[in-house]
Amino acid sequence: MKRKAAGKNMTTALRDEARYLMNTYRRPAAVFVHGKGCYLYDERGRKYLDFLGGIAVNALGYSHPRIVKTIRCEAARAIHLSNLFHNPYQGPLARKLAEWSGLDRVFFTNSGTEAIEGALKIARAHAKARAKNGRAAATRVLALTNSFHGRTFGSLAITYPAKYREPFAPLMPGADFVRFNDVADLEAKFDPGVCAIVLETIQGEGGIYPVSEAFWNRARELASANHAALIADEIQCGLGRTGRAFAYQKFASLPDIVTVAKPLAAGLPLGAVLANEEFASALVPGMHGTTFGGGPLICATALEALEIIEDEKLMKNVRERGQEIRAALEKMALDFDFIREVRGEGLIIGLDLSVEGAPFVEEALKRGLVINCTHEHILRFLPPFVVRPAQVKEFVTRLKLVFAKTPRPKSIEAKDSANADTSTVKTSRATAAVAAPLQTELPLETR
Ligand SMILES: Cc1ncc(COP(=O)(O)O)c(C=O)c1O
Repeated sequence: MKRKAAGKNMTTALRDEARYLMNTYRRPAAVFVHGKGCYLYDERGRKYLDFLGGIAVNALGYSHPRIVKTIRCEAARAIHLSNLFHNPYQGPLARKLAEWSGLDRVFFTNSGTEAIEGALKIARAHAKARAKNGRAAATRVLALTNSFHGRTFGSLAITYPAKYREPFAPLMPGADFVRFNDVADLEAKFDPGVCAIVLETIQGEGGIYPVSEAFWNRARELASANHAALIADEIQCGLGRTGRAFAYQKFASLPDIVTVAKPLAAGLPLGAVLANEEFASALVPGMHGTTFGGGPLICATALEALEIIEDEKLMKNVRERGQEIRAALEKMALDFDFIREVRGEGLIIGLDLSVEGAPFVEEALKRGLVINCTHEHILRFLPPFVVRPAQVKEFVTRLKLVFAKTPRPKSIEAKDSANADTSTVKTSRATAAVAAPLQTELPLETR
């Protein structure tokens, strides 16, 4: 049966959505039907510059010809083979991830949250295997305030905002939160009962806050001294997004376990847990598994995606375009007094505002720019790695226009800043209330 062309029957599709979907997302009116490079197109053919990239998933933009070719080719061969059998791509993909990360072994999952669950299980199993002579195994898991690790019960237990956790309590027992980048609090909470400390090397949903070198180093020391796992959640900040393969590679030491997902298979759902030999060896056949994780089509696509990042030297592009964007945002902070701070590196960038961000996100969409706001006042930019200098310029022009044309949103108290007391570089304080009105209006382009 041939599917109706997307966009033909949108009214019915949206009516069905309202009637039959569970009520979990508030969505804007636009319906995107296809994309090319860094641009999305809605059902009326209007063009949008995408600086959200499917929330850090679409690192290669849309319709990359090598990805399209790989999916076509593999779909015609074998979409799925059970994990009871070998497939040709899991090994080479695991090897590539081991080479990129400095870790030894890989388990493939279907999502980020499942990678976190796998990491927690490995840490618990490792602690259990070490507990001898009837001694209780370490089971406590430390995480950081302002964290986000996913929506399943283990991941939720180590996700900080109460709004995500409380409706579903009780969650996994043994989780405790350390104040973000607070070494003294880390030392106070770390004891031999801890089997893992989990941290996002750069907090993503939390508003783009990097873990400090001092905190990382102490977490590494304490984890090693207590035979606990240092788990780096790089689901949002990993696989090239900072301009390095992994964000933690700016530190001198490695984590024991790393989780990845979002951009791994260029938009197809694939995550992975990576571990060093010591922690990986806690798993033996039968202890952990998945039906879908790591199928041939998805692994072939992921392998192609990582090779594209290498072949097209995209990490260099990430570093260069990231610098351009941050420099432009710092400049913008001189014109718009509601810009509090620019954070991030590479193409994971947060713009901390003293006013609500949602009105800007809505206005941006009307003006052909897709961005996102987290924690109510932090605009988040996660453009594809393939973004070009001209598109950075277009982004800056469109964002300036959005800031100038949106009626000033409601103020946010300084104490609401998620990690307000952490030391990150502040931008120079802006003075003018609102920028001088821009002369040009940028129309929405139509295909
Ligand atoms: C750092 C981090 N960890 C875990 C997750 C959960 O991933 P998923 O939504 O694929 O389960 C996310 C998702 O946003 C994330 O950003």
